[in-house]
Formats: sequence, structure tokens, C-alpha cells
Amino acid sequence: MDHELECIGCHVHFPATETAYACLTCGELLEVVYNSDKLREAVDRSVWKSKTPSVWKYEELLPIKPASVKVTLGEGGTTLHKTTRLGKLFGLNKLNVKNEGENPTGSFKDRGMTVGVTRAVEINSHRVICASTGNTSASLSAYAAKASVESIVIIPRGKIALGKLSQAIAHGARIIEIEGYFDDALRTVLDLVKSDPSLYLLNSVNPYRIEGQKTLAYEIWDQLEGDVPDTVVVPVGNAGNISAIWKGFQDLYMIGLISRLPRMIGIQAQGASPLSEAFKTGQSEMTPFQHPQTIATAIKIGAPASWKKALTAVKNSKGMMETVTDDEILESQKLLARLEGLFVEPASASSVAGLKKLVDLGSIGVDEKVICVVTGHGLKDPDIVYRSFEKPTVAKTDMQSLKLALNP
Ligand code: F0G
Repeated sequence: MDHELECIGCHVHFPATETAYACLTCGELLEVVYNSDKLREAVDRSVWKSKTPSVWKYEELLPIKPASVKVTLGEGGTTLHKTTRLGKLFGLNKLNVKNEGENPTGSFKDRGMTVGVTRAVEINSHRVICASTGNTSASLSAYAAKASVESIVIIPRGKIALGKLSQAIAHGARIIEIEGYFDDALRTVLDLVKSDPSLYLLNSVNPYRIEGQKTLAYEIWDQLEGDVPDTVVVPVGNAGNISAIWKGFQDLYMIGLISRLPRMIGIQAQGASPLSEAFKTGQSEMTPFQHPQTIATAIKIGAPASWKKALTAVKNSKGMMETVTDDEILESQKLLARLEGLFVEPASASSVAGLKKLVDLGSIGVDEKVICVVTGHGLKDPDIVYRSFEKPTVAKTDMQSLKLALNP
């Protein structure tokens, strides 16, 4: 679909030919914008009905030329689980969990990366780069491999879950470990792409990635058969995903497919919660955390790059931000695994932990239609489970020892 880039700060427009990641006038982030009449005309629901669920099902609403070859691994189309047991425990009658861990590399990043790497190929870029807490690097390196382009990932040394690092290694990315936090890695790649235009940046500051991720909202709407949830709860790290999902719902509203919007609720880990702090204290600026701390390494971020987009999403949707402790995250990870059979990584479980907290506080009602987004597969970070959950029982193989092990 034809599109332009618009600055979220000064609203200047740039042609889609620019490979800028920030406004050339004021430095704020950019977003993809379409002509709303053309968008409305492009949508044919009977065509959607005939297609299987996937990111590319909604191709007409994506900023990619129809003739371009799509770099795809089969992303999107993840299950919206009816989570009755978890809902009952929390005191909610209508709770669904959208499991993004079902994506090809095990996280929601694949939605953005299929569009981002397709865009890279469209503009003839042969080198893609990102900073990452793990999942973005896993996804980027897989899609780069598929597209036969070079991938470079910059990660904070010793702060990435092993499952994710193994993925980037397996897919052949050039991996550079730096001292410091994700925020330092992101600063480093932003400096690098400024000095080397052959590098195409695929962090969520790239507005094309956000376009892929917005399909999560379309899918929720599709899976609810055209209904809109009351509340969508999302883990927040660098703050791209909550912004993307909100953009997706706004598209549906603009096209006229929905007549109301859900409230967006963002959850951060307590030790890495600059956005929640800003929201709760009513600040319009965010104060970064210099030393973010949480066991949920995916969202261990002190200065979320998309903080302005995310705060706008939360405020305009009449939503909120909340924080959760590491213990609450681990407890929710266990609940999801044991009540619903869904194994997610700690960052993903933060949305469930936040939901529980907000229900207990009376901020979410019993009959609200709630969608909790869980973002990454549990196998990404097996160590945390091994360290924090019960240990297996060691037993000798004689009957007496085995019986004792079975009935301690
Ligand atoms: N959940 C998981 C599993 C993630 O990997 C991330 C972000 C988030 C939630 C937060 O999403 O950044 O859009 O607010 N991971 C990034 C990465 C930062 O590098 O993999 P966000």
C-alpha cells in the first residue's frame, strides 16, 4: 500500500523513499501513514475470509508493494486461548490469552520482522542490524537468513537468555556483545547506522516493523469475530509492541470496521519501569532507569525508545500502566503453565501478573472482555525455570525408593 512517513512530534511528512528512523526536522520517531480513503477502499472482507490467518492476510494494510517477494516463515495466526481456569482464579469471566510464543522464532517479533526484512529487500539493503535483549536478535537473524542478507546483532554481554542467543548463533548472525545494558546497545546501533548507511536498522524505532506488529490487533478482532475487547494487557520493554497494537486498533476504527476502541494496559517489571513511573506520577516526560533490574531479561530496559508512542496509546485509550515484581512474574509464569498448559518466558508472564494485580485492585471488572498478550515462548529462557521452580526428585530405581519418590 502507498504510504508516507509522519513525525509523531512535529507531524512533518517524509516520502517513503527515506530510510530515516527519526524525524529529520525535530528528531522524534516516525510512523507509517496511509490515505484513509485508500485504506478503506483496499479492504475487502470477503477476501480476508478466504485467507488463512497470518500477518500477510492483511497485506493491503501493510506498507509493502504488492509485487514484492515477501520474506516469510509463516508468522502470525497465533492462537487466542480461552483461559477459563486462569480467569476463574483471577475472578474474570471473559479472559483470553493471545500466545505470541507460537510464532516461528518463538516471539511476537516475527510479525514485525517479516515486514521489516521484506522492506530491507525492497530497498536493496544487504545488511540488517539491531540491538536486542534477545528476541529481536533471534528473529532478525532468522529472517535475514531466509532473505540471504547479512545480519548483525548487538547485545548486552551476559544479559541475554541462552535460548535466544543460541538462535542468533544458529542462524549465522554476526554477534557483538557490549558491556552495559540494552539501552547502551541501542545507542550503539543508532550511532552505527548514522555513520554507515549500508546498515538497515530493524529495531522497533523502524516504523515498518511496527506495521507488521500491528497485525496482532487485526487478528484479535478477527478471532473475536468482529468484536472489540474491552481491555488489552501487554508487557512493555522498549514500548514498540503496545504502540503497534494500538495503531492496529486505530486502523480498524479508521476503516470503519469497529466503532469503539479497547483500553491499552502496559505492564513493566518493577526494576525497569520508567514508563509506569511517568504514567503514575502524571509526568509528560520519562526519567530513564540507569540500572534496570529484573529476571525478565527481555524487558530489562531503562529508557524505552518508543515511550512517547506508548504513553500516547495508554492515555488516548484511557488505559493505564502498572508494575509487577519478579516474584509476581514467576508466580504468573507458573500459573499459566500449570492451569492452561502455556509455557511462556518471564517477560511474557508480566502481563498476566499485571492483570492479576489490577483485578485485585478493582481496576478491571469481572465481566470485562480481557485479552492478555503473552509475547515469547518459555523455552527461550529455560534456566530461570530450573533455578526458580521445584527441582526434580533424584531416586534409586528399587521399588522402595521409587515409591518414596512418588509419595514423599
Ligand atoms: N516480551 C518479550 C518476550 C520481548 O522480547 C520484548 C522485547 C517485550 C515483551 C517488550 O516489547 O519492547 O515492544 O515493548 N524485546 C526486545 C528485544 C526489546 O530486543 O528482543 P516492546
